[in-house]
Amino acid sequence: MAAIMMAVQAFLVHTKEHVFEERNFLATAQCYGGTFQLFKARLEQERGVECRWIEDPTDIDAWASRIDENTRFLYGELPSNPQQGFFDLEAVAELAHSHNLPLIIDNTVATPALLRPICHGADIVVQSATKTLTTGGSGVAGAVISRRDLVSQIDNPAMKADFAQYVKFLPNRDYGPNLHPMQAYMTLNDMRTLRSKVDMMSRNTEAVAGFLDAHPDVESVEYLGLPNHPLHDLASRYMWLVDAEHDPQYGEPINRYGHLMSFCVEGGRENARIVFDELQRIWRATDLGRIKSVATIPAISTHQQQGEEGRRLANIPGNLIRLCVGGEHPDDVIADLDQALQKMRARSTVGVSGATAD
Ligand SMILES: Cc1ncc(COP(=O)(O)O)c(C=O)c1O
Repeated sequence: MAAIMMAVQAFLVHTKEHVFEERNFLATAQCYGGTFQLFKARLEQERGVECRWIEDPTDIDAWASRIDENTRFLYGELPSNPQQGFFDLEAVAELAHSHNLPLIIDNTVATPALLRPICHGADIVVQSATKTLTTGGSGVAGAVISRRDLVSQIDNPAMKADFAQYVKFLPNRDYGPNLHPMQAYMTLNDMRTLRSKVDMMSRNTEAVAGFLDAHPDVESVEYLGLPNHPLHDLASRYMWLVDAEHDPQYGEPINRYGHLMSFCVEGGRENARIVFDELQRIWRATDLGRIKSVATIPAISTHQQQGEEGRRLANIPGNLIRLCVGGEHPDDVIADLDQALQKMRARSTVGVSGATAD
């Protein structure tokens, strides 16, 4: 979260003597709950910076129509946590640049093993290194990565010439959200095995998503790797396992879609809660991006604070379970889900067919 704050606040400075200057930015409504709170509560409600939510980021006109002379940057999370939102990165970057605005991307879920947003026109990338980037779960860290010579309407040549250096030497020093050296050491060590871990966990997730997609007690599955997902083709243009063509195992470019997915249980939030509580092997925690499989119900954890309206905006129903598949054998993960769904069917008082999710 510090990385996100450091990336965005540099564009929210007052540029005129008049301190009540209007400022706004655009952001994808499908985003991590903490980001939603940062933008809505901390920046908009407490500091008067308007956040304009983009509910359908695949609609380029929705972005274009919200930009005005007070817009400072465009911000997108893709794939989003937990709903797998995605959009045409190159088209949104082109739009941003045509207005002299930078595009900031949260690449936490894909990681650079699968997606390099700067290669597709983004200006700044933020990563939570607490998650898939490390998978160890041994600490909290974040990263800001930027291109040189980015565009912005802010008149600050040093900032535009080398944003990452600027953030490191000035705002980061002055605000102070810096890593402990020991944490930096552990984070870097974990990152060395990123590519092979993300490949393995993505393959495991494909198997688990396929199982859930075919299950009668599962209402829907959100995973970009499923060929029937509406955003599968778009995601396939962007999400590639880095260096697969140089890997003797593959020898050609290969798509991978990461290890985050979500699914909705038939019969609403009560049934989702039963499935969740019956999980034995899959760890139940408000966490993701670990080498062990982890599940949570976002409506009562990560996205609880933003309330019903915020969850509606982000498209997070109460019966949605987020699942981040780890490095276990996928058959073990599937067996755990299977037994939990069976127990739900036996225990459910709501019924599993025809009930509406809330
Ligand atoms: C997409 C995304 N961005 C940012 C964050 C914040 O990361 P951290 O917990 O390392 O501050 C999270 C946390 O879950 C996330 O999922």
